[in-house]
Amino acid sequence: MKITYHTHNVFHLEINGKKLLMDPFIRDNPTATMDIDAIDHLDYILLSHGHGDHLGDTVEIAQKTGAMVITNFELADYLADQGITTHPLHIGGGNIFDDIYIKLTPALHGSSVKIDGKLYDGGNPAGFYIHHGNKSLYFACDTALTMDMMLLKDKNIDIAVLPIGGNFTMDIDDAVKAVEFIKPKTTIPCHYNTFDLIAVNPEEFRKKNIHSKTVILEDGQSVEI
Ligand code: NI
Ligand code: MN
Repeated sequence: MKITYHTHNVFHLEINGKKLLMDPFIRDNPTATMDIDAIDHLDYILLSHGHGDHLGDTVEIAQKTGAMVITNFELADYLADQGITTHPLHIGGGNIFDDIYIKLTPALHGSSVKIDGKLYDGGNPAGFYIHHGNKSLYFACDTALTMDMMLLKDKNIDIAVLPIGGNFTMDIDDAVKAVEFIKPKTTIPCHYNTFDLIAVNPEEFRKKNIHSKTVILEDGQSVEI
């Protein structure tokens, strides 16, 4: 498994020879340098919720690459109406995609979609539990700290990806508590320093996170397990 960070909650995953892109907020993302036009092949897009900083360029990339969008039922329905190939899941449900198990986990957040200036219901926001071979990943995506995260401690999570920017999601202290709940081997912080509202120093998270290894990724950097 290879995980590449493109800032915010944008992650490119290479698992079992397949390419997956999470929450592709790229064109309007002030911190991402990823070039959408350079994406030549993509198998799946994982979409956690409908907010613009996650839905981002999903439609453009899905239409261009033919990638299947895996997301909640409501967003899958909305995207399918635009001619996109989708696979609906819902909280607590998972399925196997090319031998990769992907499950939607609970997130405490919103998931509205803005269409022509009006907000529409985008179903429940979610995180992702991903398992392949003997490796497990957890992407919390946009969420508050929840007691539900304790359920993940039995999953032997290799890498937990947690938001630390506060204001809309967990802040550093809540993310440290989430690590105590989840007990992952490694933690990658995300969803910070994209905007002034979520400006934090990730080194403060590293200092406070004494329960797992912290890997701070810069734009375009990868980690392999
Ligand atoms: Ni959000
Ligand atoms: Mn967000």
